[in-house]
Amino acid sequence: MTIKTHLLTSSRADIEHAAALLREGGLVAFRTETVYGLGANAFDQNAVLRIYEAKGRPSFNPLIVHVAHASASEEFAVWDDKARALAAAFWPGPLTLVLPLKPDAPIAPAVSAGNTTVAIRVPATPSAQELLRAAGCPIAAPSANRSGQISPTTADHVQGELLGRIEAIVDDGPCAVGIESTIFDPRTNTILRPGSITAEDLARMTGSPVHAALGSNDIAPTAPGQLTSHYAPNSALRLGATQPNATEIFIGFGDIKGDFTLSAAGSLDEAANQLYAILRAADSLAEREGKTLAMAPLPEEGIGLALKDRLTRAAAPRGKTP
Ligand code: TXA
Ligand code: MG
Repeated sequence: MTIKTHLLTSSRADIEHAAALLREGGLVAFRTETVYGLGANAFDQNAVLRIYEAKGRPSFNPLIVHVAHASASEEFAVWDDKARALAAAFWPGPLTLVLPLKPDAPIAPAVSAGNTTVAIRVPATPSAQELLRAAGCPIAAPSANRSGQISPTTADHVQGELLGRIEAIVDDGPCAVGIESTIFDPRTNTILRPGSITAEDLARMTGSPVHAALGSNDIAPTAPGQLTSHYAPNSALRLGATQPNATEIFIGFGDIKGDFTLSAAGSLDEAANQLYAILRAADSLAEREGKTLAMAPLPEEGIGLALKDRLTRAAAPRGKTP
């Protein structure tokens, strides 16, 4: 069944329109500082189930709940002093906190997919803030891509995969960070998914060592974003390449130039910002030319560790993601 997808802007009237669609149980893609999210009213079980259907997402993979400010999550999450301090330090911003779900929480069961915790985030992008306030409800939102594909950093990316499957896309230009939020469990001081807020940032804030659940499938039941082969282009990808062979489209970094270059200046922030758009473009070129992909090495520090995480999954053998 094809749905009419309204292509909206971030004007006041369009945000009101998008908020009304959300309140009626519709699905709305919107920009955040990390990637575009595919939102539904987090209190509406049918609307949340439609997210899974539109994405082709496995039902065991829980969703992040977006709120305008921390206090808007008091009715469904259990907050302690440590979580409050983290929220005060990093929100609004690209940090997702995993907190215990209140037993009688009004959140749709499909959001947490059977977990006793809930992932929460306050996005910083003004249009996302306006949408949350206009909707008047928390918004459950995974990245607005088909499951297992590359996350979208522009409204065009969303259109390419979800046109006719969702009620609206709020086009508010490209995302600022470009990779998904850091997911952090304050109870165990563990990063479940690395992002632009780093282990050093979190260790400094919490005053204790931060563990990184990196490069393993062990935590798949609680963070399926950690499954091998996720964020995947269609073409095979060779990492750490200093030069391409004849059958490869090459993605460069810094002094190593390619058919595409993540950041000629050697900036990891710029590389994160460009990564998904370049992966998509390089992937379609590789498919057209019957080639595969290769990428120059990136420094493994700061946000570079989050890039390494996404790229390792993008390069992993296929078939591990349901
Ligand atoms: O930056 C972001 O986080 C973006 C924007 C839209 O906010 N969202 C995003 O959502 O990346 P998604 O669904 O693509 O990734 C959410 C990740 C999944 O790996 C999921 O398993 C994990 O969050 N997650 C959700 N709820 C969780 C929970 N209660 N405990 C542990 N992990 C959870
Ligand atoms: Mg995703």
